[in-house]
Amino acid sequence: MTAAFSAEWLALREPFDRAARRESAALLDLQAMAARLRGGDPALCVIDLACGTGANLRELAPRLGGTQRWLLVDHDPRLLAALPEVLEGPGWHAKARPLHIDLAAALDAVPFREAQLITASALLDLVSASWLDALLRHVRAANAAVLFALNVDGRVVWEPGLAGDAEVHELFAAHQRRDKGFGPALGAEAVALAIARLDAMGYSVTQVRSDWCIEDPVMLRAMIEGMAAAALEQEADAQERAEAWKARRLALADCTCLRVGHQDVLAMP
Ligand SMILES: C[S@@+](CC[C@H](N)C(=O)[O-])C[C@H]1O[C@@H](n2cnc3c(N)ncnc32)[C@H](O)[C@@H]1O
Repeated sequence: MTAAFSAEWLALREPFDRAARRESAALLDLQAMAARLRGGDPALCVIDLACGTGANLRELAPRLGGTQRWLLVDHDPRLLAALPEVLEGPGWHAKARPLHIDLAAALDAVPFREAQLITASALLDLVSASWLDALLRHVRAANAAVLFALNVDGRVVWEPGLAGDAEVHELFAAHQRRDKGFGPALGAEAVALAIARLDAMGYSVTQVRSDWCIEDPVMLRAMIEGMAAAALEQEADAQERAEAWKARRLALADCTCLRVGHQDVLAMP
């Protein structure tokens, strides 16, 4: 089974991603990192894996600064078609080119050795341990830095809490571990595994929180419907309870706060 993500969902989540990354940005000095990675090269070369419509590019390019060349990789041509070719602002200029590849089947086709920074946002929970290991072999061979942003870490806190939250979360977490095309998915285990592997490679690793804090009723409804659908797909016998939970949650969507735990992981060779 492959994972399909609509441009509408990516657009809905992007403001929450940006707000979450404002929290982590203060703790990650990407401009200094970029200067170090660039060395004497005029342009910083970045590869963004599973780029979607380019949210990671839009977030990182101003923070990295200077001249940048991006290779944006995804398996969905509709998302790649929405990517910009050039982005610029005060003190920075980024040129982007798309690469249409199924990363689960053809990881070796990505020209990793061109990159000084290999990045991905909201990808790691979808992949398997063996795929992550294969990726990190390429990272090490390229002697590149990595930035894995917005990785779910399993923390989900509703205010107010309601009956049924725990059961739906458990089913949702189990659904996250299903194969998304890369083998058994790591789900919330991905962060700890990536950090352990990067440590073992001798990389210097920084981990910071980038949580979603959602009070917007439109996003809350999307989250509630998504979680209930995943819970149902995971456990058909839970239908009545999942539907009742969804109805209770939707009725409260105008006065609810949901925190979804995420982590950003930056590692330098
Ligand atoms: C949660 S979205 C994240 C998109 C983007 N990085 C962002 O932060 O908005 C996951 C992305 O993974 C891509 N994807 C899923 N499976 C893939 C595969 N086998 N090969 C390449 N891209 C894949 C999807 O098309 C989607 O763009």
